[in-house]
Amino acid sequence: MKFFVDTADTDAIAELIELGMVDGVTTNPSLIHKSGRDIKEVIAQIAKMTDGPVSAETVATDYEGMIAEGHEVAKLGDNIAIKVPLTWAGLRACKTLTSEGHMVNVTLCFSANQALLAAKAGATFISPFIGRLDDLNLDGMDLIADIREIYDNYGFETQILAASIRSANHMSDAAKIGADVATAPPDVIKKMALHPLTDKGLDAFLKDWAATGQSIL
Ligand code: E4P
Repeated sequence: MKFFVDTADTDAIAELIELGMVDGVTTNPSLIHKSGRDIKEVIAQIAKMTDGPVSAETVATDYEGMIAEGHEVAKLGDNIAIKVPLTWAGLRACKTLTSEGHMVNVTLCFSANQALLAAKAGATFISPFIGRLDDLNLDGMDLIADIREIYDNYGFETQILAASIRSANHMSDAAKIGADVATAPPDVIKKMALHPLTDKGLDAFLKDWAATGQSIL
């Protein structure tokens, strides 16, 4: 499973790139707002930091506007994935932009039928939002499993990009189901390394090592 990092915080991205944990980056208007930076400036910077896809979201709600904005953000790097919402206008824009050779990430997906439409429209990525479904007492991970089954039934090449990831468990569950990609905030990726038994075991080893009086160097 590829790891995308879901942030516009370039320091956090740089730290994870150093660890080899970044196969791409996703952003959305809320994350751009949180960064306090100009969208074009920050997306261009991120696109230079990684060879992987960098999703930049359009904010127009009509087809023409999405196409115009898509063309504009695509100029920010060779690895830009244009993000459009899962509406009829967004699906139409997806079809046009992918036919032109752009990568397209269809976002705000909350049902298997929506994911089926995005695949038919030629989306490069479909972004089902796990956490926002869980927030409504629904099961976001069931949606990932349903989409995996449907895409595999028909050999759709659209990549399942598990989004709205809120916990380390979401990451392993998405990987077990076979999501192609998961995009997670930096703190969630960091939490994946934590286990109390690792800390406890390390403490015990260090205590015993100190008692030997030896040194490796
Ligand atoms: C990524 O592409 C999405 O925009 C993001 O994962 C949404 O996450 P949230 O539901 O935590 O805002």
